[in-house]
Amino acid sequence: MSVRVALIGTGIMGMDHARLFAEDLPNVELHTICDVDEGRAKEVADMFGAKTVLTNPESAATSSEIDAVVIASPDPFHAPLTKSAILAGKHVLCEKPLSPSSAECIEVMELETKIGKQMTQIGFMRRFDPSYAEMKSLLLQGKIGQALMMHNYHRNVSVPSNDFTPDMSISNSAPHEYDIARFMLDEEITAISVFQPQTQQAVKPVFMVLESESGVLVNVEINNVAAYGYDVRAELVGEKGSLFLQPTNVLTEQHTDLQATKGYAADWRPRFAESYRLQNKAWINSILTGHPSDIASNAWDGYCATRVAETGVQALKTGSRQIVELIDKPALYR
Ligand SMILES: NC(=O)c1ccc[n+]([C@@H]2O[C@H](COP(=O)([O-])OP(=O)(O)OC[C@H]3O[C@@H](n4cnc5c(N)ncnc54)[C@H](O)[C@@H]3O)[C@@H](O)[C@H]2O)c1
Repeated sequence: MSVRVALIGTGIMGMDHARLFAEDLPNVELHTICDVDEGRAKEVADMFGAKTVLTNPESAATSSEIDAVVIASPDPFHAPLTKSAILAGKHVLCEKPLSPSSAECIEVMELETKIGKQMTQIGFMRRFDPSYAEMKSLLLQGKIGQALMMHNYHRNVSVPSNDFTPDMSISNSAPHEYDIARFMLDEEITAISVFQPQTQQAVKPVFMVLESESGVLVNVEINNVAAYGYDVRAELVGEKGSLFLQPTNVLTEQHTDLQATKGYAADWRPRFAESYRLQNKAWINSILTGHPSDIASNAWDGYCATRVAETGVQALKTGSRQIVELIDKPALYR
């Protein structure tokens, strides 16, 4: 059996999803391509052999010809399209964040609770990254004892688009960090403080300190104007040792011209290529088996990341540590 997929949004991420479904994954038919830019949608449909081209995202999300939908349009469209798709009985892989607004994330959870089924997976693909997976496995084996601190660095060459606002470092880039910290530590983030260095740059880096339920301290640097390359690092420090993430895409170190050099990619795709593949494979498997993936982020995880982001924006505005207030976890996600 093949899962018929509609893809909404054919930008950088949408193209990557299209390529994965068309070329790298079994049991899936890339059926419909939708973008408000018709020319772009046609181009991607031709490239990957999709049957149908649409410019109306609502029609794509609810089409009777598809089983599932990938939402890779800009952030504000994620939750409304997710809700329409769920109402039409479609499975959803929604790019992160589920919504910039936690109220909208709650609406998605209410809808899933009403139908009694999780239908949404969120694109927090780092959970599938082999290096983060090994870090988690070693932590669970007790190799470093109890976790105490986690250091995270998330650097982009430049801001992804001209519409990128300073708050989006906290609400668009950093949710990957909130999610992976929650996943690694298996507990919620309870407080956040946000700082910025003095600089004339239009999008200043942010430096955050997150606190977890059991008191683990997690610092996060988001630097979207790092200039030198796409660079994600993490170190988990425990009572008996530390685990330092190795990038999975750097395969060789060059030794030439009296220098040793390692390359950086210009964006996130090479670094997390295997994570995206495993994430999408897990999503297709969850549809075929009827069981959500144990690893993947669900709507509750999407809500928690958005709540941390909203609270982080407040922390930056007020210049003070803020408590992250969450609703009770709905039974469907326990
Ligand atoms: N998981 C990750 O690692 C990761 C990385 C980058 C971006 N993202 C997320 O993916 C989403 C898309 O990011 P991107 O970098 O591909 O953006 P992009 O700007 O490259 O592409 C967005 C595409 O959506 C189309 N679009 C705009 N409004 C639309 C609408 N209402 N309906 C349908 N299509 C519409 C645009 O024409 C464009 O083709 C964002 O929400 C972003 O947060 C996730």
